[in-house]
Amino acid sequence: MKQYLALLLIMLLISCKDNPKPITGTTSPKTEIKAVIADSAMVVSARAEASKIGASILKNGGTAFDAMIATHMALALTHPNAGNIGGGGFMVFRTEFGEIGSLDFREKAPLAATRDMYLDNNGKYIPEKSTEGGLAVGVPGSIAGIFAVHEKFGTMPMEILLKPVIELANKGFLITPKQKARFDEFKDEFEKINGGASIFTSTYTAGDTLKNTALATTLSRIAKNGRAEFYAGETGKKMIDFLQQKGGIITQKDLDAYEAIWREAMVFKYKDVKLISMAPPSSGGICLSQILQMIAPFPLTEYGHNSEKYIQLLVEAEKRAYADRSEYLGDPDFIDIPVDSLLSNTYISKRMKNFSFENATPSETIKPGKITSYESLETTHYSIVDKFGNAVSVTTTLNASYGSKLYIPELGFFLNNEMDDFSAKPGTPNMFGLIGGEANAIAPQKRMLSSMTPTIAEKDGKLLMVLGTPGGSTIITSVLQTFLNVYEFEMNMQEAVNAPRFHHQWLPDLILFEADGFSSETIKNLEAKGYSSSNQILPEIGSVDAILILPNGKLQGGADRRGDDTAIGY
Ligand code: DON
Repeated sequence: MKQYLALLLIMLLISCKDNPKPITGTTSPKTEIKAVIADSAMVVSARAEASKIGASILKNGGTAFDAMIATHMALALTHPNAGNIGGGGFMVFRTEFGEIGSLDFREKAPLAATRDMYLDNNGKYIPEKSTEGGLAVGVPGSIAGIFAVHEKFGTMPMEILLKPVIELANKGFLITPKQKARFDEFKDEFEKINGGASIFTSTYTAGDTLKNTALATTLSRIAKNGRAEFYAGETGKKMIDFLQQKGGIITQKDLDAYEAIWREAMVFKYKDVKLISMAPPSSGGICLSQILQMIAPFPLTEYGHNSEKYIQLLVEAEKRAYADRSEYLGDPDFIDIPVDSLLSNTYISKRMKNFSFENATPSETIKPGKITSYESLETTHYSIVDKFGNAVSVTTTLNASYGSKLYIPELGFFLNNEMDDFSAKPGTPNMFGLIGGEANAIAPQKRMLSSMTPTIAEKDGKLLMVLGTPGGSTIITSVLQTFLNVYEFEMNMQEAVNAPRFHHQWLPDLILFEADGFSSETIKNLEAKGYSSSNQILPEIGSVDAILILPNGKLQGGADRRGDDTAIGY
């Protein structure tokens, strides 16, 4: 049975991932990989067009917050598998004056959602219900998000910010080879789930341009009529009519009730660095803080980058943090999260008491569970710093690639399947193999627990780094490794982003290594200590987009080689 599951898992992942590019970052931190450097301002995102649009706003005097709005919508157009209008996300910010905070524009469960809505009459979980079609869709938050940012920090009119995106939607954007591969991969599913053709079901060649005039029209109405266009106007009404035909349960009341929420960021220290990350309903900040605290007492540089001991230490800390995630974390507006206890020195040192370099700590002795499958990993992150010194770190998603796969032809956007991030049944894994319980059970208006970890680092009171990544459950561990690559192993931002990654999430009790990034000797030695691993299940992990502020004040970009990611600055 175990073997069958592993095989199924491998087949699934191979079928839904692009072929991995050769690894150019190696296990040696001292590779000569050039990073993009800018004097004043920079945007790093999953698409050149989005970075360019964001950077042009910055160049024309806009702030990082203005650029966030344009970049977000440019990604909805050019990176539609993850960039979105029909999804949600989180923004962490640090202003030029050192003020910090975060915005939660995560989707919410509809008012008509129920705890057992994805179970059949026998209490059996039906995974397709929480991942495909109308019932999988959470109430979208992205438009509320950009308007909340605009209201609090915007310095330019929304019409100006959306203009370049509308123009590009009408003119058409370039289909990259990777994008073509994705379109091909999902074409049949789009047709099946939507019951017909759309602009996303045509066969394209890399280099073709794709126009999305329906999206241009939707954005023009939003630019003109504001937030209400989406939550109370024609766009919202059309979205609801569409969803109701597709078995969805979102109503106008859900749209009326949606609010993005300004939350205190999760702030913690690693040695002399202050990290600012996302608090619940994302698990990102808490887990990252726990892992960093657990590993801080150990001499990482002595062990060496991606050495056996380094991998072992991180993996053991990750297991413990993800076990806590499954038990304690969820929407703070619905449950009490023992944040102080989870992050206290006493608790953290107790958690690592049974850690030893001799043997793996079996996950079952930390807490039990099992896995069914992973999905292809598609979210998107962008990092922006402006000439004034404002920084934003935004991770946004439809959850799976193209979310629920439901595409509204008249409006030009896909709808999320974020409902799968809830724990549909205690102890049953979701599409990322994550297990949850009561804390993340479905309830009307509740936000589903996330792993998104948009993060900003500060040193000596100054901005140091802005980073984040897609990758579902692997987000937290990719952010962790990228930060350590710079801080501990002195890589430049591009090397840090390129370097091979590994991941452990407590359950399944398995280290996932990127293909080709780790020597068979390292893997063998770890196996001898009791670690199971695979370098096939996720041939690539994450797609980090980051900015490092150099001692001379210049900005160094890290745009992940794994995608079409691009750093543009001036
Ligand atoms: O919020 C979360 O943790 C997930 N919905 C993120 C999904 C994701 O990152 C997919 N792939 N890259």
